[in-house]
Amino acid sequence: MIVDPSKLPIRDTYRFMISVITPRPIAWVSTVSPRGVTNLAPFSFFNGVAANPPTVVFSPVNRRDGSKKDTVLNIEQTPEFVVNVVSFDQAAPMNACSEELPYEVSEFEKCGLTPLPSEKVKPPRVKEAKVQIECVLHQIVHIGEGPLAANLVIGRIVLMHVDESILGEDGLPDPRKLDTIGRMGGEFYSRTTELFELPRPGGKR
Ligand SMILES: Cc1cc2nc3c(=O)[nH]c(=O)nc-3n(C[C@H](O)[C@H](O)[C@H](O)COP(=O)(O)O)c2cc1C
Repeated sequence: MIVDPSKLPIRDTYRFMISVITPRPIAWVSTVSPRGVTNLAPFSFFNGVAANPPTVVFSPVNRRDGSKKDTVLNIEQTPEFVVNVVSFDQAAPMNACSEELPYEVSEFEKCGLTPLPSEKVKPPRVKEAKVQIECVLHQIVHIGEGPLAANLVIGRIVLMHVDESILGEDGLPDPRKLDTIGRMGGEFYSRTTELFELPRPGGKR
């Protein structure tokens, strides 16, 4: 089977992409509007891309009507955000936060989550998340136009909060304790309970 994006409706190409680019980590992103209304939404077009300076990217695509999502509108006006890490325990509230709510309604309240003040940025973090990553905007890169076009948010990490209960003996987050989930195709998610080790050639990492 050949999938040629130039011959398919955008939505179908999207479905193939999210079915094969898997598992995807989930950034549960908190932002704040100029009037101080908080916003929280999950994004799985997400990753870390550099350590010097420490940099993350995530991509809120335009809605089907071509409009920008609340997260983008907020970051354009207050160029800061927090990436909250999603463990299995938070799968349901994370998913609840993906509902399209009016701009002035906060997902924190609607989804029963606790906002904790951040230290270096204005948007609050999610208390229930075991790791919260405070970021400042580096750049938004617009790719394409109209429905599902990207607003690629590039952010620099300025502070990480790590719950000590998830640390392993080596002082680093233990993946078995963090219990992150990944987004797969359709409505599937993956758990990270079945792990295997594969030492790097040369023994370095
Ligand atoms: C697990 C998961 C991953 C998602 N990933 C993305 C994504 O990468 N990009 C995107 O635009 N929307 C994604 N969504 C949908 C957004 O969360 C949804 O459109 C949300 O309402 C946007 O909120 P906002 O308008 O408050 O920014 C995802 C939803 C879920 C449940």
